[in-house]
Amino acid sequence: MRPLVAGNWKMNGLTAQLAEAMMLADGLAAGTPPVCDVMLCPPFPLISALVHVVKGRSILVGAQDCHAKASGAQTGDVSAEMLADIGASAVIVGHSERRADHGERDSDVKAKAEAALRAGLTAIVCIGETAGQRAAGLTLEVTGRQLAGSLPKGATAANTVIAYEPVWAIGTGLTASTADVAEVHAFLRRRLSELSPGNSDKLRILYGGSVKPANAKELMAVPHVNGALVGGASLKAADFLGILLGYRI
Ligand code: PGA
Repeated sequence: MRPLVAGNWKMNGLTAQLAEAMMLADGLAAGTPPVCDVMLCPPFPLISALVHVVKGRSILVGAQDCHAKASGAQTGDVSAEMLADIGASAVIVGHSERRADHGERDSDVKAKAEAALRAGLTAIVCIGETAGQRAAGLTLEVTGRQLAGSLPKGATAANTVIAYEPVWAIGTGLTASTADVAEVHAFLRRRLSELSPGNSDKLRILYGGSVKPANAKELMAVPHVNGALVGGASLKAADFLGILLGYRI
C-alpha cells in the first residue's frame, strides 16, 4: 500500500505561504521521488491558489473540514462539493481541534466523511485519545469507539484514510512511543477488519502528533503505520522534505 504524508497547515498561512509549497514541489522534483503520496491541506482561502501552484507537480491538495450538506443556508460553511469543484481531492474530518472547539461528535464526523465520499473526495478521518483517557487506560476503548462511530458508510481503501492522532501529542512536541503507536495501529487494523471487511488490510492508517524530521523515520517504520498527518512541521518546506526523506529510497 502506498503511504500518504499529509501536511495540515491549520489556521496558518497567508498567500506568501504558497512559496513554501513551491519550494516543496521543487524539493520533491530535485531528488528521487518519494514512494508515498504527498498532500498539503491549507486553510480554505488558499486552496484554489495552491491547486494552481502545484498543478502538474506531485502534490495533492486537501481541505481541513467540510459541511455534511451539499448546499444550503449554512452561513460560513463550505461543502465537500465546493472543495471538489475547486480542485481539492481530500478533506480532513474530525480533527481533535474541531472535536474540541466545535463540539463535533462521531456522528457529525461520519456525516462529513460521507459528504466527502459523495463529492468524490478522500475522507481523512481523525481519531485519538486525550491524555486523561490514556492515563485511565481507555485508549483502545476510545479510539475503537471513535473509529466505529466516524467511519463513513461505503469506506474503501480508495476513498478513506484513518489518522490516529493522540490529542496530547498534537502540537506539544510529545510523541507516542513506537510501542504505543504499534499497539493502537494494530488494534485499529483489527477493528477495521470487523467494520469494513475486504478493505481493512489496504486502508491507510496515518500517525499524527508532533511528527518531525527527527522522529519520522522511526514512527513510519512501525507496523500498520501507513504515513503521517503533520501539523507544525508541514509549514516549512525544509521540515516537510526532511519528514519525506525516509520515503525517498
Ligand atoms: P502537529 O499537528 O504535527 O503540529 O503535532 C498534527 C495535527 O494536528 O494534525
